[in-house]
Amino acid sequence: MSITDATTFPEEWTALLAWYELAGVSTFVGETPRDRFAETEAEAGRRRAPTTTPRPAEAKSSTPAPKPATVVARPAAIPPDADATSAADARAKAAQAASLAELRDMLAAFTGCGLRQTAKHLVFGNGAEDADVMFVGEAPGRDEDLAGEPFVGKSGQLLNRMLAAIGIERDAVRVTNTVPWRPPGNRAPTPAETEACLPFTLRHIELVRPRVLVCVGSSSCRALLRSDEGITRLRGRWLSLTTPGGMDIAAMPMLHPAFLLRQPAQKRLAWRDFQSLRERLGETA
Ligand code: URA
Repeated sequence: MSITDATTFPEEWTALLAWYELAGVSTFVGETPRDRFAETEAEAGRRRAPTTTPRPAEAKSSTPAPKPATVVARPAAIPPDADATSAADARAKAAQAASLAELRDMLAAFTGCGLRQTAKHLVFGNGAEDADVMFVGEAPGRDEDLAGEPFVGKSGQLLNRMLAAIGIERDAVRVTNTVPWRPPGNRAPTPAETEACLPFTLRHIELVRPRVLVCVGSSSCRALLRSDEGITRLRGRWLSLTTPGGMDIAAMPMLHPAFLLRQPAQKRLAWRDFQSLRERLGETA
């Protein structure tokens, strides 16, 4: 039976394909199946495994170190199976970018993250290059991948409405994601993918120099603020990010618009957070 002869497909095949399409699968990436959930689970397990070598600060004192007042973005902590050469390469490259245009070109040439192979476009970021407020989401979805722009789909439209509600135009803010390529089938980016791209995201923030950073959703908080706390506990709190270049920026975790679209009752919390953002901008203007 020929695979190109659609009339000879068994009914179950076409039904299965239709079901995949309904589930959001739009790209075929390989001949053999890969269980990304199992890979991510194994990766998380390795990250959780206790290390036997104490870090210098722990070795010196038996009393627990006090919690830092601010949350600091350390240079990418590389998951054990991430390509360490790629991460080091990314850090070295990103640090050299003197402008957003240069950073974009570097990302376009960066081969250290496999997501670029399945994405249609690089989604670098948009909005004012010297914005007071910068939003960092998780990853481009289908609409963003097609357009090459972040937050243009339903989530983006909700973000625009929330901004308008506090009198801020979308073009006045800077918007980007923790990874600039769409993960296949809209899965979450793996920690290794996020870490590979993180130096570029941090440099993006440094080049924009926003007064306020908004980490949209839990992935963004984990990557930028190094926090494993749930987003529902973190949201609305004012934290601080220190970039590799030593810049301190006020940062607020926020519920992801995609979550708000699924749970409209939670919009009241987002409303509170946007009010807090508005107040903060007024205070520091
Ligand atoms: N969700 C995100 O996190 N980023 C986008 O750009 C679109 C949807």
